[in-house]
Amino acid sequence: MNIRQLIDSRVSQALTDAGVPNDTPAVIKPSNRPVFGDYQANGIMGAAKKIKTNPRELAAKVLDCLVLSDIAEKVEIAGPGFLNIHLKPEWLSQQLDQTLDSKTLNIEQVKTPQTIVVDYSGPNLAKEMHVGHLRSTIIGDAIVRVLEFRGHQVIRQNHVGDWGTQFGMLIAHMNSLQSSSDELSMKLSDLEAFYREAKKRFDDAPDFAEAARDYVVKLQSGDPECHRLWQQFIDISLQHCDDIYARLNVSLNREHVMPESAYNNDLKQVITDLGTADLLTEDQGAKCVFLEDFKGKDDKILPTIVQKSDGGYLYATTDLAALRYRHQTLHANRILYFVDARQSLHLNQVFTIAKKAHFVPEATQLEHLAFGTMMGKDGKPFKTRAGGTVKLIELLKEAEQRALALVNQKNPDLSEAERLLVAQKVGIAAVKYADLSKNRSSDYIFNWDSMLSFEGNTAPYLQYAYARIQSIFRKANTIDLQAALILDEKTEKQLAVKLLQLSETLETVVKDSTPNILCNYLFELAGHFMSFYEACPILKTDNEAMRNSRLKLAHLTATTLKTGLGLLGIDTLDRM
Ligand code: ARG
Repeated sequence: MNIRQLIDSRVSQALTDAGVPNDTPAVIKPSNRPVFGDYQANGIMGAAKKIKTNPRELAAKVLDCLVLSDIAEKVEIAGPGFLNIHLKPEWLSQQLDQTLDSKTLNIEQVKTPQTIVVDYSGPNLAKEMHVGHLRSTIIGDAIVRVLEFRGHQVIRQNHVGDWGTQFGMLIAHMNSLQSSSDELSMKLSDLEAFYREAKKRFDDAPDFAEAARDYVVKLQSGDPECHRLWQQFIDISLQHCDDIYARLNVSLNREHVMPESAYNNDLKQVITDLGTADLLTEDQGAKCVFLEDFKGKDDKILPTIVQKSDGGYLYATTDLAALRYRHQTLHANRILYFVDARQSLHLNQVFTIAKKAHFVPEATQLEHLAFGTMMGKDGKPFKTRAGGTVKLIELLKEAEQRALALVNQKNPDLSEAERLLVAQKVGIAAVKYADLSKNRSSDYIFNWDSMLSFEGNTAPYLQYAYARIQSIFRKANTIDLQAALILDEKTEKQLAVKLLQLSETLETVVKDSTPNILCNYLFELAGHFMSFYEACPILKTDNEAMRNSRLKLAHLTATTLKTGLGLLGIDTLDRM
């Protein structure tokens, strides 16, 4: 049990004992000012209203019933009926010792682990990954890591787009270049340009467009030659994705790829079953699902088309097949989709249809974790100067270069190899952290200067805080982890409380799929460390016990920072 839960259970019990109905929330929060103690219980005013009594009187009653002396040294009533809770330093140090003994920083494992399918990244393989894929990829990956850390069984699903009409055009272009295999492989090394060329031919030359359409039909009917070309293209495109994932320190690999094409053979059955479930309506030759739940502005139902009049299937059809697979084969209890907010109608329609058709049971949690768009300085979606889409690889290279310029300037004494390594880690971390630390559902403005700043809530600031602690250790030579923790100074105690709050932070991160809560926590933790470091000399004190205690606190801070950043997919450095 983390501190918040522990206090919550005790205060809830006291509320019950004081005569308040059972389901009344205790509302436990960390205090935001030290004078208010370490935690506060804010639920008494609400409870008093419920049972129509004076809140301060109720607070006094609750306080009488409250059993907290094992963990708190003082509990006081404040304002209209808050309880301010001051934790005991001895209890805090004992908790921190337990943290050190456990491999997972004493983060408790969930009691009933769920099988959670996480759908994230999902680029379209016809083109190279661009900045539009960044958010899904890194937010999804951070949540996956946190879920696993807490003991859930996570199944990553990279729902890549590898099927559909665009591929006819690409295969047609490949086919016409085939006679010269050198030229073909050279051209395929720049997938983006290859796509543009194919598209141009498709738009300009009717013959080519005709051939492209033929290829789509051939591909779908399993023509071997066509399939070979398609496979060649897909392999190259997936290789690009793998490179990006490795560079980004994202845990996706080929095993997690479950492409749209994999559901191709189920699509016919999906339509049959939707028919059996009485969900299909024909509209101008197309098969659609009309649901009252989805209406447009004019109060007209927005249909979900599942089969076109020419027999072709759609994005929604594949997503329905994927949902069935995730339930039947992967046995998911919960399925999370990290997909752009603009696909919210699509996903909600698919979720509702899948439940109505019993492709997934009512109990399976289906969640669209939408995110906003990454904007340029002008407040419009992030583009190149010329107005094109920014390739992800270009963005990451630029991040590393900018970080290198910073490192060269800040730390010219490091060897070149080390500077390159630092630049790579800091550059990538800066891009990831800038995104992860923002509220998931809003748009945000991409800004090189703020993300690479060594001040404020940034990756470089946190990585630097970690490296600084490492430099203390280098000077100290040894740390005695058996040393007793002394939490006499205000900043020492505050740091200790903060260290123990990782657990409840992760609880919130998992509940709402919000990595920014973890970022805030790490930023505050680093801040608490800095205050402690300024107020409490570590190496300069003559008091051996104090020195050891403080080194141990520094060690706990470093471990917590490293673990927390690791959960965000961000590496730390010993020197920078
Ligand atoms: N390929 C899609 C796109 O680029 C994203 C896939 C999201 N996942 C899903 N199951 N629909 O927009």
